[in-house]
Amino acid sequence: MASDKRKQIKIFDITLRDGSQSKVATRIKLEDLLKVARKLAESGIYGAETWGGATFDVCVRYLREDPWERARALKGAMPKVKNMMLIRGQNLVAYSNFADDVVEKFVEAAARNGIDVFRIFDALDDTRNHETVIRAVKAVGKTSEGAVCYTISPVHTIEKFVSKARELEDKGVDQIAIKDMAGLIDPWTTFKLVSSLKKAVGVPIHLHTHDNCGMGMMSALKAAEAGCDMIDTVLSPFSGGTGHPCTESLVFSLERFGYETNCNLKRLTEAAEAAKVVRALYSEFEAPYSGVDARMLVTQIPGGVMSNLTSQLKQQNALDRLEEILKEIPRVREDLGYIPLVTPTSQIVVSQATFNVMLGRYKIIANHTANLLKGMYGETPAPVNKELQKKVLKGEQPVTVRPAELIPPMWGELRNKFPELSDEEILIHAIFPHEAPGYFEARK
Ligand code: CO
Repeated sequence: MASDKRKQIKIFDITLRDGSQSKVATRIKLEDLLKVARKLAESGIYGAETWGGATFDVCVRYLREDPWERARALKGAMPKVKNMMLIRGQNLVAYSNFADDVVEKFVEAAARNGIDVFRIFDALDDTRNHETVIRAVKAVGKTSEGAVCYTISPVHTIEKFVSKARELEDKGVDQIAIKDMAGLIDPWTTFKLVSSLKKAVGVPIHLHTHDNCGMGMMSALKAAEAGCDMIDTVLSPFSGGTGHPCTESLVFSLERFGYETNCNLKRLTEAAEAAKVVRALYSEFEAPYSGVDARMLVTQIPGGVMSNLTSQLKQQNALDRLEEILKEIPRVREDLGYIPLVTPTSQIVVSQATFNVMLGRYKIIANHTANLLKGMYGETPAPVNKELQKKVLKGEQPVTVRPAELIPPMWGELRNKFPELSDEEILIHAIFPHEAPGYFEARK
């Protein structure tokens, strides 16, 4: 007989961060995010992703909106909901490593401004790049979630993902996320991976997937069946395709299967109505197509990468080279040790592949590619191409220590340089030094 105690599944609605990022290029302003947040507040969701990822960059660079105020205001609108941010390990919310003391200051400030859960990932899945953030999150008494990037390659097996999760658990994370940023995980693999993780680690498991290939909802359901503890979803107007499984329909389905989500479907529907009105305000930022595109099952090139590449080539009048570049991407990825395609590695792989096609293979090795080959981003999932590595090292030794060990402390100098500013303001200067002056000028 089935037990009376219904299995609890915690719903994280991620409309306000990844939903906005996936559908309207992160352009939604705080006042509009708040319209949705106020409705979500009473819907019974356990968590909401509100911050991090591209939001900080877009706030500073384009919206000229105070990113810290955004974190505070969204927490203020949803005080009972766990507010989550996506943090790129030692890269914080930018594209290269910061000194440990800057990482600590950033985490303190984020916590102070309302972030409860820190989802930490590293583009290389080198867990040494998670360490400082994990320690800093612990120090402020918040929840650390270590993410394992899901990707497909000859070296990425269930065992490899599980061993990464174990490493993260050993380093002290409170929960583990499967981060399927490109919507490539299929329902069978999801079941297998979540079941294996439930056996191998003692902390809760959280699934993050997209619906690019149309498998998001199936994978979410199989994750639940395998004992997954938390699942990311977005409100219906942002769901599907480049977005994520739909909050309302997953809640409805899980309840029918006998799981408990504590969500109120009527309230969620009201939040979805608000989200629909908001999305319509940002139609100029919509991609030409954001539905399901199952080509990725064959090309394994994420949808976001595809659309960026297409628009870049269009600008350069070189759209006719697209097919060649698509063929070159997996070759570059192999040379670079089968790194997952996620920010910033996806940009590195795509730029190098474009150079290779336009100018000849590795006639030019981009700076970022060279740094990756030198080990400056950390250890790659498989060894990099030795010949290329030799070429960029020019007799030097590759980096084998945790990359941030090589970055001297920066906070003291920053403090001295900006004696009048708050930690939050200094962090904007530290993270986006080129954009900060324009940002502060515009804020005046
Ligand atoms: Co995502």
